[in-house]
Amino acid sequence: MASRLFRKKTVAQIIDSSQSSQGALAKVLGVRDLVSLGIAAIVGAGIFSTIGLASFNGGPAVSLLFVFVAVACVFTALSYAQFASTVPVSGSAYTYAYVAFGELFAWIIGWALILEYAVSNMVVAISWSQYFVSMLQGFGIHLPGWLTMAPAYALEAYTKLQEQGMAALSKADLVAATAYEHAPRIGDVPIIFDLPAGLITVLVTWLVYIGIKESRTASNIMVAIKVGVILFVILGGAFFVRPENWTPFAPNGVEGVLTGVAAVFFAFIGFDSISTTAEECRNPQRDLPKAMILCLLICAVLYILITLVLTGMVNYSELNVKDPLAYVFQYIGMDYMAGIVSVTSVVAITSALLVFQLAQPRIWMTMSRDGLLWKRFATIHPKHKTPSFATIVTGFMVAIPALFFKMDFFVDLTSVGTFFAFILVCAGVLYMDHSGISKQSRFKVPYINGRYLITVGLVIAIGCLYWFGQDTLDEWRQLSFSDILEHKLLTVVFWLVWIILCVMGYVYRFSLLPVAGILVNLYLMSQLGASNWLIFLVWLALGLVVYFGYGYKHSKLRSVTGNKDTIG
Ligand code: ALA
Repeated sequence: MASRLFRKKTVAQIIDSSQSSQGALAKVLGVRDLVSLGIAAIVGAGIFSTIGLASFNGGPAVSLLFVFVAVACVFTALSYAQFASTVPVSGSAYTYAYVAFGELFAWIIGWALILEYAVSNMVVAISWSQYFVSMLQGFGIHLPGWLTMAPAYALEAYTKLQEQGMAALSKADLVAATAYEHAPRIGDVPIIFDLPAGLITVLVTWLVYIGIKESRTASNIMVAIKVGVILFVILGGAFFVRPENWTPFAPNGVEGVLTGVAAVFFAFIGFDSISTTAEECRNPQRDLPKAMILCLLICAVLYILITLVLTGMVNYSELNVKDPLAYVFQYIGMDYMAGIVSVTSVVAITSALLVFQLAQPRIWMTMSRDGLLWKRFATIHPKHKTPSFATIVTGFMVAIPALFFKMDFFVDLTSVGTFFAFILVCAGVLYMDHSGISKQSRFKVPYINGRYLITVGLVIAIGCLYWFGQDTLDEWRQLSFSDILEHKLLTVVFWLVWIILCVMGYVYRFSLLPVAGILVNLYLMSQLGASNWLIFLVWLALGLVVYFGYGYKHSKLRSVTGNKDTIG
């Protein structure tokens, strides 16, 4: 059984099966389109919404967190690029894991990617709705509150109003509580949902359904507007920066900065999604690596600058708002600039939604081709040449929760799932190098021999902890064994993995950059709350039930190999 669970695909098998599948996708994308799709995916709710709370908690030093997370993403992007240049088919990390680790891991990754693409789009749709509603308000149009929010939020605000009175409520809470009171009811149950979030998801799904060409044109236009508004904020805002706002740089210390990990990471998610369009690229092996690194670097520079501008224009303590980019201009009395930012933000966030709605069906399509999901997920529309059934399912899957749920929960869950996928992709490159598959790669992660350097890094890290981290060490000394298990298990896992990588790196002469990718991603992942991990584990368990209920029995690899061992 174990050999069946870890049956692997060869690169040749994967390319064959994509060519002989039910219909070919249109090959229309070049580097410029890919960079544009990448930026469309990366720049979205993260930089337009969640950066506000991250800056509020961490102060101007959050710009350094952006640098740190960008570095982690570059390590990961290099690994993705190597895979994309070796296995140029849709499916992204899912396909890569099939080559490197075998079917079970491939399934797990495919399942985790649903968190990255579909669940993150729930966040993006909700964030879009918030900007849209405030943009309409700018034009004097007021939608009824019960049509624009999650029922749980309205109930929470209403309960707070009952218990603590009006003075305890913020302006937004008051709107939510009023929405609860005035909502139409069926019996005693108030009808409250986020209509704009659902509608925009349906609209974007329709665009993705009718064709990649149309999606590309729409995406290119939206990206131009999006980069425009970001540059507008950076250049326009630079004149209003008051350097004294940058002191103190990290008002709540490292801890305050690190509370922003999920939000900052969320802002970078998306560069990998362009690898799902490999079959629609004119020259995927040459163009995908280039595009991935390029769009990541462009976004990193924009993010760092924008964080410095926001925290320079107003004091960090003012930034706990949902629309920080527009808010900072309002704050300094430039309402017309705030208005421009607000309108263009709606367009910008739409494009992030578009790319993830494009990516999710393509992963399902690839999994279905492999027999791990029902056949219909691989159906290509005869006229539009898009994975039609999978696209419709994605539409429902994102639109329905976006109508009814709050955003915060989805941000953390997306980040855990994505870190997990990134770590496996970096580890996959180590396997490719070791097994010789990387001889077929047209792009390779630059090789730096990690035989000794991984251990040198560990020694330096321990030294830094000893010299500069006495507070952390004191905190650890006071913890009992059960405290460590309860609160610090992930940190222990991080150090253990580093030690294991030192040993394996010595034996196999591991390439340093993918190892750095694993460690930085794991470190950031360990900074997320344990409850997110628990939910993630429940999600994985659900995935395993589906796999053993269907995929395990219907895998194409099973019919190729019979009950024998793996190929690969
Ligand atoms: N990076 C994407 C965003 O910020 C997910 O919306």
